This record gives sequence, C-alpha cells and structure tokens, in this order.
Amino acid sequence: IVVDKGGHRHFMLKEIMDQPQAMTAALKDRADFANSPADVMQLERVVLIGCGTSLHAAQVGRHYIERLAGIPAEAESASEFRYRDPIIGPRTLVVSIGQSGETADTVAAMHLAREKGATLITICNAEESQAARVADGALYMHAGLEVGVASTKTFVASLTILQLLLDAETTRRLVDQMARGPGLIGEVLAEANLYSSLARRIGHYDNFLFLGRGANAAIASEGALKLKEISYIHAEGYPAGEMKHGPIALIDPEMCTVALAPRDDLRDKTLSNIKEVKARGGLVVAVLTKGDDEAASEVDFPLFIPQAPDLLMPLVTTVPLQLLSYYIALLRGCDVDQPRNLAKSVTVE
Ligand code: AGP
Repeated sequence: IVVDKGGHRHFMLKEIMDQPQAMTAALKDRADFANSPADVMQLERVVLIGCGTSLHAAQVGRHYIERLAGIPAEAESASEFRYRDPIIGPRTLVVSIGQSGETADTVAAMHLAREKGATLITICNAEESQAARVADGALYMHAGLEVGVASTKTFVASLTILQLLLDAETTRRLVDQMARGPGLIGEVLAEANLYSSLARRIGHYDNFLFLGRGANAAIASEGALKLKEISYIHAEGYPAGEMKHGPIALIDPEMCTVALAPRDDLRDKTLSNIKEVKARGGLVVAVLTKGDDEAASEVDFPLFIPQAPDLLMPLVTTVPLQLLSYYIALLRGCDVDQPRNLAKSVTVE
C-alpha cells in the first residue's frame, strides 16, 4: 500500500482533510444495509464500549441509539467494563468501537461480553482484526489507513456508522439527511486557515477547558483529548452543566475555555455557561452556528460552523477542535503524527 501525505505536512492534517471522503465511504457501505446483525426487536439494552477517541464515539452513539431506536443505551470504557462483572445477557447488544480492532482492553471486554452471551458487533477500520474475529458481525469504516496517532477520520466514520446501526427502516430514512454530512464537514475544512491564525492567538495558553452538552459533551472530551495528545497542553473536557460543580474554580485569565454552543435545544444553556466564564475573566473560544451574532458577541473568538441537522452536529463540531489542536501543536513544534509516549494501537494493558 502506498501511503503519502497527499501534499500535506503531516498525516494528521491529510486525515482531517479526508474526512468528507471517510464519511462518504462509511455511508456507502451502510446505504444498502438491509439486515442488522442484531435482532433489534429482541434487544433490551445496548452497551457501547471503546477506549480513548473510540470511547468518545461510543458516548455519542449512546445518544443516537436512544433517540433513533428508543432502546436504553450506555457507553463505557472497555478498560472499566472488562473488570466490573457487568450484567449482560442474550438481550444485550454490545457494540465495540475501535480504529485498530486490536486494543487490548477492547478485545478483552469483547471476550467477556461473548462469555456472558451478549450479541456482539464491532465497528472498526481494520479488517481481519481481532475485534472482527471475536464479533458476531463487523461493520467496517472503510476510512483507509489512518497513520496519525491522533484519530480523526476514523472518529467521523464511527459516528456515521453509529447513526445507521440498528434498523433498516431508520437507515433508509436517514441516508438522505446524512448525505449532507460530507459537504458540511467540507465547509469547515475550507476555512482551515482561520484555525491557523486562531492558534497563534491562543496557542500559548497552558490550560484549556472544553465544554459541551448532550452529544457535544462527548465532543468536548474528544477536543480535550486531541489537544493533550498532540500539543501536551493540559486540557479537560466537561459536560457544560458540570462546570458549576467544580471546574468553575479554575476559571481565571490564564484559562482558555472552548465551548460548543451550536444552535440546538441546549444552545441557550451553554451560552449561560459562557457568560459565567466571561464574568470570571476567562477567555472563551466558542463553536457557534453561522449567523448566531448574539452568541458571538459574548465570546472572544467565535468559530462558525454551518447549520446542521442535530444528528450530524457532532460530526461537524468535532472538526474545528481537530484543526485547532493541529495548528496549536504545529506552533509549539510538537511531533504531530508521533506524539511522545503514545502508540497508534495499545495492544498491551
Ligand atoms: C486517539 O486519538 C488516541 N490515539 C487513542 O485514544 C485511541 O483512540 C485509543 O487508543 C483507541 O484505539 P482504537 O480505536 O484503535 O481501539
């Protein structure tokens, strides 16, 4: 296989830029999806497991499944799941998510689920991986090789598949809406240079707090993970509603808060959190829907994204955070594709 950076300086940037195609590839495989590997009518519960970025995908997936299929769903770190004797049985669907399909904790958690008799599906990028072998069914991302240690396009591919996971009827209904996703992601990517200039304004901060609500709480965690992985900056991701319960004590002029407040049912609530941060002298960068001048006037640096259907929103809000992390790491002279202490797949505990 020939792997090149496609003219970009790093694999990570190439992989960020490849996300519209990654989403299209993930969609294409699901569009003619007729039979779910699981009998949805028989399911009592869905448990989504993964590690790192794949755990964040699981956390978004939980929202999708509850909303689209009306089945109770939860997301858990595979490393916790495997050691807590979880209560699962034949009417539990366990969905593992992983780029590599080789993460030791994820594979061990899958073996446990198998022993307990759960139906087991994996969403993974690597065909013929251990995860694919253990599972009853594998849904492949077809995102192409991801070289950068920081996962980007496989995250977007995971979220795409998670929307189309359970029943053929919902899948058919959603495919048209989802076909807009690559274009919406492309609109954010077309403005990549804005993120490069913002990085120059905020790249010297040593502490970042990422806030979001609903599915965007998981995207906040993902934004914080990306930043800490590749730029070695201390960053925390929090559900915005938790801010008052502790993190607000951290707010001062040295703290940069990145808030996800696109126009959705929770935008007003997150805007209140933004005002609280500003009132305490914190710097605020906010991901907002284009045209939301009211919210923009409350923040130091607005980052505009196109209006997107609710289900697609997490795929769109994640892109500004990836770009921001990339350009901050670049500015700080970090090894973007091979960050220190990290391996692309964690095959030992
Ligand atoms: C992502 O940027 C990280 N490198 C890491 O958290 C990764 O997502 C995790 O190790 C899980 O890997 P997997 O998806 O291959 O299972």
